[in-house]
Amino acid sequence: MSIQVFEKENIFKLDTGNTSYIMSVMDDGHLLHLYYGAKLNEADLTYLGTPHSRVSFWAIQPGSDYSADSMALEYSGSGTADLRPCSVTTVDEDGDNVTDLRYDSYTLSSGKPKLPGLPCVYLNEGQEAQTLCITLKDAVKDLYVDLYYTVFAFSNAISRFTVIRNEGKQAEILEKAMTSTLQFHGKDYDLIHLHGAWAREFNVERSPISHTTQVISSFRGSSSHIANPFAVIAKKDAGEDSGEVYGMNLIYSSNFMVETELDAFDTLRVNLGINERGFAWKLNPGESFTTPEAILVYSENGLGEMSRTYQKLYQHNLIRGKYRDIPHPVLLNSWEGVYFDFDAKKILSMASAAAKLGIDLFVLDDGWFGKRDDDTCSLGDWVVNEKKLGCTMKELVDDINKLGLDFGLWFEPEMISPDSDLYRAHPDWCLHQKKRNPSLARHQLILDMSRKDVQDHVVETVSKVLSSANIRYVKWDMNRNMAEIGSALLPNERLGELFHRYILGVYSVMERITSAFPDVLFESCSGGGGRFDAGIMHYMPQNWTSDDSDAIQRLNIQYGCSFVYPPSVMTCHVSAVPNHQVHRVTPMKTRANVAMQGSFGYELDMSKLSEEDKAAVIEQVKEYKKYAHLVIDGLQYRLISPVNSNECAFMVVSEDKSTAIVTYVKKLNDPNPCTTRLYLKGLDENAKYRERDTGKVYNGKALMTAGLNLPDMKEDFDSLRMVFERV
Ligand code: DGJ
Repeated sequence: MSIQVFEKENIFKLDTGNTSYIMSVMDDGHLLHLYYGAKLNEADLTYLGTPHSRVSFWAIQPGSDYSADSMALEYSGSGTADLRPCSVTTVDEDGDNVTDLRYDSYTLSSGKPKLPGLPCVYLNEGQEAQTLCITLKDAVKDLYVDLYYTVFAFSNAISRFTVIRNEGKQAEILEKAMTSTLQFHGKDYDLIHLHGAWAREFNVERSPISHTTQVISSFRGSSSHIANPFAVIAKKDAGEDSGEVYGMNLIYSSNFMVETELDAFDTLRVNLGINERGFAWKLNPGESFTTPEAILVYSENGLGEMSRTYQKLYQHNLIRGKYRDIPHPVLLNSWEGVYFDFDAKKILSMASAAAKLGIDLFVLDDGWFGKRDDDTCSLGDWVVNEKKLGCTMKELVDDINKLGLDFGLWFEPEMISPDSDLYRAHPDWCLHQKKRNPSLARHQLILDMSRKDVQDHVVETVSKVLSSANIRYVKWDMNRNMAEIGSALLPNERLGELFHRYILGVYSVMERITSAFPDVLFESCSGGGGRFDAGIMHYMPQNWTSDDSDAIQRLNIQYGCSFVYPPSVMTCHVSAVPNHQVHRVTPMKTRANVAMQGSFGYELDMSKLSEEDKAAVIEQVKEYKKYAHLVIDGLQYRLISPVNSNECAFMVVSEDKSTAIVTYVKKLNDPNPCTTRLYLKGLDENAKYRERDTGKVYNGKALMTAGLNLPDMKEDFDSLRMVFERV
């Protein structure tokens, strides 16, 4: 890892272990992007930076020989000659909507800065990193743009974020503020992204980049089920284990955009940052705005290596708290077992069945507070419904602890039901537009988390419940998109700040609560994966991946999620059959084999399980716990993609390559089937491995290059789990 600055030649070169990133300053002060890719010894690539000379229609700014429209700009201003999608837009009080950015200065430092109020990658003790800050300036406005780049000694990822500073005399309205812009040459690229909907998140879509502008975005007030703040620019020939890919992921949980444009000269620009739709931030003189952080990962060895780079960095340098390094408890969640229909007796009967099967923690989901027996009321009234339970929370938790289980509780802290004491007392605490009746989703409104009084109230009420009993886990849900955005406190001219202020408020509340309860395991949820992003991961090391826990549907969901997020963050549960979402009946074995890919648990009424299923649960829990450390610190390999395929296979290998677990699932069985040969990955090629169930010993290299024939499957949705130990 190193950052080199060649002052005479005006060249900046960032090196990670395997990659280089090169920029230079042109004579007219524009900062050019020259290269990002496999590591180079050469720094001077300025010969690549010569853009097209004069062409009709292209505007050329005074003092320049070339049009900015033809340059691979590292971070593009707006309202000048560069008419492609820009990185930043500012408008001052005179209506000057130009932002003309030219090189000003640079600083180089060791370590990595924190981002104020925003989640970000951090360094552990003894870890090294270097940070370059290049400052660009609009001289007319006295507006400065600081571009931050960090390279790490322990990862091939590059971190970027941007600070926009108003040193001028007038207020500026920031209408667009991208975290990063990347420039590519040629039209030989595909765009890969993750799209979905509630209960079917994380679908991987790959499409050619054409001569158009494409935008992947969320305008829902959260990262959303619909899209994820992640994209890959992949060479057309790139696949799982070969070819050039560029991953980009925003550490952010609200509205975002990835914007790509392939121009008429086959230059591809990719912007990543907060969605410009609905965004306008007033920067008074002396104020600054910090964008969220983006993590860029280049790999010349395909998508698998890119994913492992993200997973490792996020597992060890983004997630925090004690559950970063230790296996998460195996839990039983009450939701699909009983929904809102429970009292303490029912809960204790489920918990007592769970305790006998080896479960660590019982989670009481929605319905324990206010007068909530369905989803029409009480959000905001975080007061235990003792009438419904038949006891206090402390009594219930103590009884569960006596069974040998820890206890966890569901909250939806950002929400308020119109039918709640909180709403009756503070009707202006929700996001709303004064002249309009608000749209409801699941009968609920959203608290205005941009307000300090609302933030304090949430911290106080949630903390009070958490302090009232021995609560060791929190499921933090968030169940709607935003509409009719408005705030009773924010001045009208600052309405465009509300989405971002909301999420800053959420981050602040999460920081306060999680640091006050360091022993509690926090799981984020948003109707499943509606806010499954790297931002939330900084506060909560687990995320409910989807409300669809059907093992077959989960193959696609977990496959897509693995493109960027670590396995430990994915909460995966075995649920009852027929499955509540798709009504499919899958074998118990397969439900467990699929769920063991992440942080494992159950979501059914354990008191109703057959004796055979109970015996299976005992074995599954033992098996999971035996290898649970691999979910935290193993390396994950995708062997067969489930997308448009009847099969799926993935494996995890311990860092020292001594243990590997392979999971194979076949969706529909066929008669007289072809033999599936699986080629394993990530093993020690000089070692021998014994497969646990058959006792057969194989050569590591042979398993990877010659492969392994799998036995025929016995029924639809059948699966296989193989454990290989080095001998
Ligand atoms: C949505 C979540 O995804 C479910 O798991 C459950 O917690 C419900 N909310 C409860 O209302």
